[in-house]
Amino acid sequence: MHAYASDDPVFLAMQARGQRETGGKLGNFCVACHAPLAVAAARGAVVDPASLAVPLRGVTCFFCHSVDATLDLHDGALRLAGDGAFRGPIADPVATQAHPSMYSSLHDRTRAEAASACGACHDVRMPNGADLERTYAEWTSTVFAVPGAAGGKTCGGCHMPGSQGIAASVPGAPTRTVHDHTMAGLDVALSTFPEAAAQRKAVQLSLDSALSAKLCVAGPGDVEVTLENGRIGHAWPTGATHDRRAWVELRGFAAGAEVWSRGALPNDAPPDVSSEPDAIVLGRTLVDTELQPVKFLWEAAAARGSVLAPRVSAGIDGTRPLVTRYVVPPSVDRVTMRVRVTPFAPDVLDALVASGDLGADVRARVPVFTLASTTLEWTKDRGYACLP
Ligand code: HEC
Ligand code: HEC
Ligand code: HEC
Ligand code: HEC
Repeated sequence: MHAYASDDPVFLAMQARGQRETGGKLGNFCVACHAPLAVAAARGAVVDPASLAVPLRGVTCFFCHSVDATLDLHDGALRLAGDGAFRGPIADPVATQAHPSMYSSLHDRTRAEAASACGACHDVRMPNGADLERTYAEWTSTVFAVPGAAGGKTCGGCHMPGSQGIAASVPGAPTRTVHDHTMAGLDVALSTFPEAAAQRKAVQLSLDSALSAKLCVAGPGDVEVTLENGRIGHAWPTGATHDRRAWVELRGFAAGAEVWSRGALPNDAPPDVSSEPDAIVLGRTLVDTELQPVKFLWEAAAARGSVLAPRVSAGIDGTRPLVTRYVVPPSVDRVTMRVRVTPFAPDVLDALVASGDLGADVRARVPVFTLASTTLEWTKDRGYACLP
């Protein structure tokens, strides 16, 4: 996703619309995180992400490995060393003719400050002061935000699993622990992009074990759903929560026929809370200063909605599970549950298609994932019980 960050057709569509609607006031605000090297190279000029040379697109190797300081915890405020040396987690790098190499604690997953080098970009504060994407701030409130030696986990500690390999292609390079750079999250490449199929698989795998879910049927018609975020190092969903939608799909059957449902609209659409007020929907809506809903970052003063809070301590009371109870027809003898999630709420995409900024073909490629650990089925022959 880092290589793709300024190729993303939805990003390009939003940023073009944003520049138009603000009369260019957005400037390099969006590209500062989505193509930071291009902004550094432009020396103050406004960058058009749609027409960049390949080496300047996205969040590149050069960018991440040249960072030598976190200047602020928002808006991509990272300093590039400018000395041509690449920084990394290895204390005794093998010399190569390609570039000088050196150790940096900002690239060492066992050091808490390494989270800030990711966090500076994974935290969006708008020019009006509105904090709209808070992954880093969320992480600082969790049980994971302590040094690695004390059992903590930085962003890389979870998102960059290690394996044995060679870190540099030079003769005599030793076998070391090297780290996967896939960083699968939720979004996937929607344009032609290398390793797109592998990426989808990695996102699916990462989502499959992300949450804990429970489905309880305590008596006739008495259904209770619990979702818990105990293993993720921040809220879920996180980041661009105004774009994301996660929801619980529930169906109740009696003698083989569906007699009740929540969040089970056709075409994998997220529930419409005006017609299903008790459907479980995770994600946020942007609002302006009058608290009226708006669709895009540059129109927003705040974000409203709910996400699953992360674990704050190790104990059983360290999480805040979301528990929802339903009264369903007492004849229900089978209940199915699953959590679905999509990187982009359909109304956001529709607005970009309607304004001519996004092709309808791109919208059609946006996936809806199902989380395996939340796929549960209760049948009456199990008795009144909780699953799993
Ligand atoms: C988003 C930032 C980011 C980008 C982009 C990135 N890296 Fe890294 N890279 C890291 C971090 C952080 C580590 C340290 C991982 C750790 O030890 O926890 C790392 C580690 C490494 C290492 C040391 C060996 C290892 O795996 O730990 C090498 C070599 C490396 N990266 C090369 C690259 C190359 C080549 C690219 C581009 C194809 C690249 N990186 C892109 C952040 C990045
Ligand atoms: C220069 C800014 C920048 C830095 C530094 C950075 N990221 Fe990102 N990251 C991005 C952007 C922009 C995207 C979104 C690409 C897209 O979806 O278009 C992204 C995407 C991601 C995703 C995938 C999100 C999704 O929903 O699919 C993960 C996971 C991620 N980054 C983790 C990390 C980690 C871990 C680090 C530190 C090692 C890091 N990032 C450092 C800017 C950055
Ligand atoms: C304790 C492990 C852990 C830590 C620490 C952690 N993450 Fe995550 N992260 C996850 C899991 C699990 C997911 C959910 C699965 C998925 O989305 O693919 C996730 C999802 C994401 C996503 C995708 C967006 C979404 O809503 O699912 C981004 C972006 C991300 N993390 C960035 C970060 C950054 C930046 C940090 C550090 C500030 C960080 N993560 C720390 C485990 C972790
Ligand atoms: C502080 C850095 C930063 C700034 C500024 C920023 N973004 Fe992002 N953007 C990210 C990161 C990090 C992600 C990765 C998704 C996440 O947070 O989970 C992302 C993801 C996205 C996505 C993919 C969303 C999804 O749901 O997967 C789009 C589209 C996007 N940004 C558009 C924009 C636009 C338009 C602007 C300017 C108005 C902007 N961004 C400004 C860091 C930034």
